[in-house]
Amino acid sequence: MIGLLLALAACAPRLEAPPSPVEPLPVDAHRASEAEALARVPDPARGGPPIRDGASPLPPFLGVSRADSAYVGTATCSACHPSAAATWATTAHAHALDTLRANASGANPACLTCHVVGFGHPGGWAGAKSPVPLDDVGCESCHGPGSAHVAAPAPGYGDLPASGAACVACHTHDNSPDFRFEAYWPRIAHGREAGPD
Ligand code: HEC
Ligand code: HEC
Ligand code: HEC
Ligand code: HEC
Repeated sequence: MIGLLLALAACAPRLEAPPSPVEPLPVDAHRASEAEALARVPDPARGGPPIRDGASPLPPFLGVSRADSAYVGTATCSACHPSAAATWATTAHAHALDTLRANASGANPACLTCHVVGFGHPGGWAGAKSPVPLDDVGCESCHGPGSAHVAAPAPGYGDLPASGAACVACHTHDNSPDFRFEAYWPRIAHGREAGPD
């Protein structure tokens, strides 16, 4: 009986289109999401010095005072968050600087902003002079500089919304026209909802 039904189904004309992949954000919604990301942060500088033109854009992380937090590098975070780190290592973020180098842009300040950690910020990426390894899009590109958290680990550091607002500082319409949180987050998912970290 089941076989007959399957045979009939196979012969029947296809009435429904196959499930489509998640559509990109319409441009208006994308730009609105960028504005939402900015609006979520009461103090855009988050307690630190003003952000200079041409520096890495900051996602809307909370619970970090840039005044007393320096960048420590992804390897330092990984020691205590091995699961998040293992996931990160499989993502495109982990080789974002290689991408620039492969495109002869590894020293172009206009490109480095989104492809390394903390470009143009105090203690951020500075090529061979970086204080700690800060190549690629690292943990602190999203969660913010982590030295105060490392000195006194606790919940609340680097709190980010589970929405596109966490991403569109870099995944702007211009640089990531296909961006949609529902499609992109599963490819980098980590933290509590993704299981133990
Ligand atoms: C010495 C160990 C240690 C290091 C190093 C460390 N963390 Fe943590 N982290 C913790 C602990 C402990 C918590 C609190 C976990 C909890 O109670 O849920 C935490 C919490 C967090 C949270 C928030 C989770 C929440 O519940 O709000 C994030 C995000 C985070 N860490 C990211 C990082 C990043 C990024 C780095 C590197 C800059 C880092 N951690 C370095 C131990 C560490
Ligand atoms: C600091 C900038 C920055 C932030 C913030 C950021 N990204 Fe990215 N993302 C990049 C860059 C740069 C690439 C391209 C990396 C490469 O291929 O070299 C990328 C690539 C990706 C890719 C791979 C896309 C592909 O076509 O393979 C996914 C998925 C992704 N990001 C998800 C996210 C999500 C989800 C967020 C928010 C939670 C986010 N990103 C936040 C900079 C960022
Ligand atoms: C505002 C942030 C931002 C800036 C500035 C930026 N990028 Fe990116 N770049 C991204 C993001 C985000 C992605 C991932 C796009 C996606 O897959 O949706 C990306 C992806 C790429 C990719 C494709 C990687 C892949 O394998 O698919 C290349 C190549 C690239 N960028 C080169 C550059 C170059 C060269 C510059 C400077 C001219 C630059 N980027 C400046 C954010 C940025
Ligand atoms: C591209 C941006 C991005 C990068 C890179 C990134 N994270 Fe996250 N992380 C997020 C977002 C967004 C959330 C919140 C997800 C949620 O609430 O479901 C999160 C959640 C977390 C949490 C759990 C917080 C909670 O409340 O459940 C921890 C811990 C964490 N990240 C650690 C890390 C570590 C360690 C790295 C580097 C190995 C890292 N993250 C890299 C964006 C990022």
